[in-house]
Amino acid sequence: MRVGVLTGGGDCPGLNAVIRGVVRKGVQEYAYEFVGYRDGWRGPLEADTIPLDISAVRGILPRGGTILGSSRTNPLKEESGIRRIKENLAKHEVDALIVIGGEDTLGVATRLHAEYGVKCVGVPKTIDNDLSATDYTFGFDTAVGIATEAIDRLHTTAESHMRVLVVEVMGRHAGWIALHSGLAGGANVILIPEQRFDVDQVCAWVTSRFKASYAPIVVVAEGAMPKDGEAVLKDGSLDSFGHVRLSGVGEWLAKEIERRTGKEARTTVLGHVQRGGTPSAFDRWLATRFGLHAIEAVRDGDFGKMVALQGTDIVRVPIAEATAKLKTVNPKLYEEVGVFFG
Ligand code: F6P
Repeated sequence: MRVGVLTGGGDCPGLNAVIRGVVRKGVQEYAYEFVGYRDGWRGPLEADTIPLDISAVRGILPRGGTILGSSRTNPLKEESGIRRIKENLAKHEVDALIVIGGEDTLGVATRLHAEYGVKCVGVPKTIDNDLSATDYTFGFDTAVGIATEAIDRLHTTAESHMRVLVVEVMGRHAGWIALHSGLAGGANVILIPEQRFDVDQVCAWVTSRFKASYAPIVVVAEGAMPKDGEAVLKDGSLDSFGHVRLSGVGEWLAKEIERRTGKEARTTVLGHVQRGGTPSAFDRWLATRFGLHAIEAVRDGDFGKMVALQGTDIVRVPIAEATAKLKTVNPKLYEEVGVFFG
């Protein structure tokens, strides 16, 4: 049996741990051979491979990024993309494909399997934690840890100058990173894409914190939008999902807070720092388990499935279940945090 492996979409701490788990178990227990495809779907599309054996995965467990490279190439949007993928898999004598990715990458795997008979097993990946059917995705815990440490640090500098510190974290469509890091870091305001926020209310909170002699920390997810968001959109741009998005919401909000409250405000955009570097212990644990279970699914011939964490168990669900709908923060959970701008 020859198994192809690819990593697609934005990179994420823990990708290498999955690859290592897949290859070690596949080689040592099942005597499988592997083909590494470079840069997500671009690899099978352009027949771009790298050797993937035990020596290739040695020492990669704590390494961030992906040894296979990644991209957002979508073969469904390429001319004769499906035909080229099928031809290249046949040329490389690949019997099955392990696809490690988020919504877009797995969405392609769903269609390749269902409509074109490509034998795919999916592994969910995203720091945003917004894939359905799995309680957590690896990479999320690392991102939350990085954001929490940043918030801790920003508290002390905010207090020294009695300024507002606005921290913009990742999360285009879901506020999981903002919610978890904001709570863990003791932020005073947490703004998420799922709930439009009222700038006047944010300012009222900020002012009340100053009255109590605190320098407020505002955590805002990059996809969060003010109630009158469309009116303040500068570029009027839609993101790749067709959603209206205020790019640079952190910077915009800090300026509005300054203008409306007269208090000095600064912005820190954490950006790709949240995606880089070594995975946390939890993410290594989860990613390794995903890898071990994914190769078991290949052995069982259980294609069109994705491995998922439910409770403490790793289960298999149809890939389509994970990509049909984003897993967003529900209002009850948000309310529980106590900073709710409905
Ligand atoms: O999907 C994960 C994510 O980290 C988002 O939170 C973010 O908007 C996006 O990737 C940015 O990715 P890139 O800069 O690679 O396009």
